[in-house]
Amino acid sequence: ESLGRGEFHHYMLKEMYEQPEIVLKEGTRPIVIPEALKDSSHITLVGCGSAFYAAWCGKYYLEQLAQRIVTLELASEFHYRNPMVQPGVTIAVSQSGETADTLKAIQYMEQKGQYTIGMVNMPYSSISRYVQYELLTRAGPEIGVASTKAFTAQLLCLLKISLTLMKEGEKKQHVLKGLQQLPMDMQKIFFKASQLQDIAQHLVHAKGIIYLGRGISYPIALEGALKISELSYIHGQGFAAGELKHGPLALIDGLTPVVVVAPMDQFFEKTVSNIYEVCAREGKVFVITDEAGATQLAGVPVQDIFVYPSPKAWELHPFLSVLSLQLIAYYTALHKGCSIDQPRNLAKSVTVE
Ligand code: G6P
Repeated sequence: ESLGRGEFHHYMLKEMYEQPEIVLKEGTRPIVIPEALKDSSHITLVGCGSAFYAAWCGKYYLEQLAQRIVTLELASEFHYRNPMVQPGVTIAVSQSGETADTLKAIQYMEQKGQYTIGMVNMPYSSISRYVQYELLTRAGPEIGVASTKAFTAQLLCLLKISLTLMKEGEKKQHVLKGLQQLPMDMQKIFFKASQLQDIAQHLVHAKGIIYLGRGISYPIALEGALKISELSYIHGQGFAAGELKHGPLALIDGLTPVVVVAPMDQFFEKTVSNIYEVCAREGKVFVITDEAGATQLAGVPVQDIFVYPSPKAWELHPFLSVLSLQLIAYYTALHKGCSIDQPRNLAKSVTVE
């Protein structure tokens, strides 16, 4: 695709709009994975920033679908620990393939005898050259500093690996069918973007915003908080919804908006009880959920509910919820007049430790 912005005001907006197309194209492309990955019962995932949160979602996929033992490591901390390493495979997740900390982590693992895989968006990168096997996420060049389509392509690649490692059967067919429907469902979010603009209007004067999620929606909440911080310079902080009572509840004051990622999955009811806890303390709650979740939320005194189409399987919620959170961050930054494609103090790839 073209490297220009075309009709879009920002690269970030263009890149968000490219996501359904990426899922359409890459969702059905067969993935070839090395024998070492097929044979390994233990997989380590490393990354930084958004790539780390994508890897975190990948941990859920690989554990639940592929029944693997998965260790998740933040690359920027990992090599300082001099950790013990068991035999296995390490996957470095990185858009640029140039992040110094991620490269260091994968080098450490290689020296410890691990089979190394680079899941990168940029071919011929430093990580690509270093690892034994390269898996391309094929999102196309990402210009906006805050990652959007590269994140989604990483999610998809991790899901595809997990499906490849998974036993044949009904469940697998079910997720694969759901993947076919996913691009259309993502597209529908753009048709409702004006509601996300309204939500952004409510967030624009906040000093801080809390993001909550449970299960795979927890790393998505963290990614949502990172996006709002990067783009709008509002302090976004994500918490596991189950941790609310262990501290964050003290922050609820009616001035700090709370964005809750609450898809209809096995954790829905528990997350709804968190919503009640926040509302009872006059917290202003914005819920991101699907159609099935929304039907259960009638009468809950929240500020607003953004509803996306219900996907066929829990594995597909992150694609829809993260897109909603990306758009909220984008519009909030737009309302504030921030430098969207090049947020202050940030760089697209960080080649220093
Ligand atoms: C920078 C970018 C982030 C990105 C992170 C990791 O901080 O601003 O958007 O998630 O690096 O980059 P990588 O290229 O390794 O995915």
